[in-house]
Amino acid sequence: MMTKKGLRLVDHDEEGVNNAFRADVLEGLSQEQKAIPARWLYDDAGSQLFEDITQLPEYYPTRAETEILTDRAGEFADLIGRGRAVVEFGSGSSVKTPLLLKAIKPAAYVPLDISGDFLRAAAADLATKFPGLPVYPVEADFMRTVELPKEIADLPKLGFFPGSTIGNMVARTAVDLLRNMRETLGTGAQLLIGMDLIKDEEVLVAAYDDAAGVTAEFNYNLVRRINRELDGDIPLDALNHEARWVDDFARIEMHLVASRDIGFTVCGEDFSMRAGDTIHTENSHKFDRRTANTLLLAGGWEPQTRWLDGKARFSLILAEARPPRSAP
Ligand code: AVJ
Repeated sequence: MMTKKGLRLVDHDEEGVNNAFRADVLEGLSQEQKAIPARWLYDDAGSQLFEDITQLPEYYPTRAETEILTDRAGEFADLIGRGRAVVEFGSGSSVKTPLLLKAIKPAAYVPLDISGDFLRAAAADLATKFPGLPVYPVEADFMRTVELPKEIADLPKLGFFPGSTIGNMVARTAVDLLRNMRETLGTGAQLLIGMDLIKDEEVLVAAYDDAAGVTAEFNYNLVRRINRELDGDIPLDALNHEARWVDDFARIEMHLVASRDIGFTVCGEDFSMRAGDTIHTENSHKFDRRTANTLLLAGGWEPQTRWLDGKARFSLILAEARPPRSAP
């Protein structure tokens, strides 16, 4: 049921250091505007902190999307139909998947995740909840084109990409991913994708800078991870969490802001920050109907139907991979 035994997708050096993590951090800290790719926020501790974030009063996206999945089950059934193979990109430890599977009665479920541990847990959990549903987990980096299990080759596909994870990517990367998804799933496939909506700045900033400080801890965890795994001595006491709305790009940015001039080393390399300098750690893009549609079309997906939660905070969009055609 699993991928080839012993296959490791994560490349480590002789000392057990994750090579990609080290390369991203050293390169990111060397730039004028320091920046580290957001995916490194999600080690075990970071993934747990994100789960905690989803329970916060200020963090509405998870509740809003779950509400849509619960309330619109009948419409999903009509528009998606039964008997598709559901391919979930980044299965994580989602509570949303059962809601979808219950609504559409699929022929198979294929969770994709780069983390074998999460994948096995998610697959086992789903298998108990849906006895009789074939589950084919695939350990893969969904940012690339994925080879799907041959068992589902002849089934129509539904891609599932909840959580507004697409919002973590800048447009260029998001389009690459959407095109890869289309390539993976094939013409005729559908995609059900969550996209968070542009709204009042205060609401957005609060969702990423909660009163209990859980999101701050999530951000600080990246520094702890660097210090632990990459032999760093970044002074965490001199860095403050900040969530800022950048209107030109319709996104929330998470930063770590230096409260004083600091110097530190990571993997033997020296870095410095002046008071007020930041390390940019995450983007979370927000969309409206038109920017969402444009992004999907750029990635080869034609929007079919769009649902919002009752307070119009979050959107879930069903799109279709139609045969490519030229003009107009
Ligand atoms: C899981 C990436 C969708 O951007 O809202 C939550 C991550 N970061 N709070 C998001 C996150 C800070 C979340 N995503």
